[in-house]
Amino acid sequence: MKLLLIGPPGAGKGTHAKIYCKKFNLINLATGDILRANIRSGTPLGQKAKETIEAGNLVSDELVNQMVFEEIKSFGVDKGYLFDGYPRTLGQAKALDDFLAKEGQKLDAVLDLATSEELIMFRLSGRRICTSDGCKGNFHITNMPSKIEGVCDLCGGKLVQRKDDKPETIKHRLETYEKETMPLLDYYRKQRILHDIDGDLSIPDLQDVTDKLFEELKLVK
Ligand code: AP5
Ligand code: MG
Repeated sequence: MKLLLIGPPGAGKGTHAKIYCKKFNLINLATGDILRANIRSGTPLGQKAKETIEAGNLVSDELVNQMVFEEIKSFGVDKGYLFDGYPRTLGQAKALDDFLAKEGQKLDAVLDLATSEELIMFRLSGRRICTSDGCKGNFHITNMPSKIEGVCDLCGGKLVQRKDDKPETIKHRLETYEKETMPLLDYYRKQRILHDIDGDLSIPDLQDVTDKLFEELKLVK
């Protein structure tokens, strides 16, 4: 299965991606996480992307496509994937379709986690992420607090607020989402693979909705 999660910042893409990857044994391809790991380890890609990401702008299609295709090739194109945060421009969407089509592959379903601005601001201002390499620790000071404040439950690493989670940067990321990424909804609707999901739902309620959807679509046995 090749599944894509689209949604504004704070829609819960990363949160639900982790659950689906475990449930369906998918490879989690989250471009934001890969870029942040490159920034932490100071690679040439990380140095190029740092300022762009911290200001809430998009990294160029060329850099992101190349990074994603290398990642897919390293695991194998025929594997199951969960794409989180990629594609997020029409250019990236077309490039991914072409890349997969050349290998006889395609996306099976796209979930649009439409979420209200009020909840987005609440979720992102309270989010804390783990700084340890490879750890996907993602907490919320009220919704999903870590057992010890500032310490990751998964690895004991330090939890911090993301630099792009300041209120003014969140607003800018939302504008970028509306301008650059929302046109993808029509693109995938025309392919008949887009499914509208209420991103305001609680985590278990949203999982119930998508469990039913995956059964209807016969994506899981
Ligand atoms: P990225 O890291 O992908 O950020 P984003 O798309 O802005 O989304 P977020 O990660 O902020 O939100 P999320 O939907 O994953 O929410 P989460 O599950 O954490 O990208 C960052 C930057 O990298 C971009 O701005 C860009 O610069 C660059 N980039 C990345 N991909 C790119 C691309 N393809 N092209 C160009 N540039 C790219 O949830 C948020 C919080 O809410 C958590 O604390 C969670 O615990 C809580 N929560 C989540 N869901 C619920 C729920 N249902 N109920 C209660 N709490 C919830
Ligand atoms: Mg995320």
